[in-house]
Amino acid sequence: MTGRKYKRGNPKDDMEPLKLRNEKMWSYIEQYMPTDRKLRVLELGSGRGSLTRYVALKLQQLGKLELIVGVNLSQKENDYNEEQAKLEGIPEDLFQTLYMNFDDLTTLRDDSFDLILSNDSLLHASNKILLSQEMARLLRRDGVTIFSDILLQRGVTETQVPKLMERFHLTSLGTLELYDAALELAGLKKILLYGD
Ligand SMILES: C[S@@+](CC[C@H](N)C(=O)[O-])C[C@H]1O[C@@H](n2cnc3c(N)ncnc32)[C@H](O)[C@@H]1O
Repeated sequence: MTGRKYKRGNPKDDMEPLKLRNEKMWSYIEQYMPTDRKLRVLELGSGRGSLTRYVALKLQQLGKLELIVGVNLSQKENDYNEEQAKLEGIPEDLFQTLYMNFDDLTTLRDDSFDLILSNDSLLHASNKILLSQEMARLLRRDGVTIFSDILLQRGVTETQVPKLMERFHLTSLGTLELYDAALELAGLKKILLYGD
């Protein structure tokens, strides 16, 4: 698993307008994506698909898109994402949404993606260790995962953020330390610290 990488997002940025978040994500993708082939991209918790379509169009313009798949647990959001993709001229054979729970990615093949992306969705993942292992399993050679998540800051406990916990129906939140441990255990190599 050596040579596989991850990038953490900045939890302070969760209120950033979508456009800025997409641009920031793209700047990391440009910097770290494998350059020797067309890319297969997976987005976890793709929601209404602002990022999915942004990345699809960017990669398509570069002639680098093989396939982009948005995994998301809302069919309504997936339908919206697919409709918008059609309107934006993204070829149907290159763009796909899957109504799927990212807590169980076992139906996806080993070594099947070059990029795994996520914006503020992994807080819903019930087991970050299992999720990290699945990301490592799914990534191909030199594959990269780049994600942002909403995390507990050092010294803060879940009981101190009850509104957030209630709003997202959560029983726990991740921490930087948890991600560090989970991603390292999965054999993913960290290339940037959050906030860089
Ligand atoms: C806060 S929204 C973020 C959506 C999008 N990434 C964005 O930045 O606009 C979280 C999304 O995660 C999806 N989601 C939540 N739990 C999920 C799960 N277990 N598996 C797949 N998707 C999930 C929801 O459907 C929702 O669209």
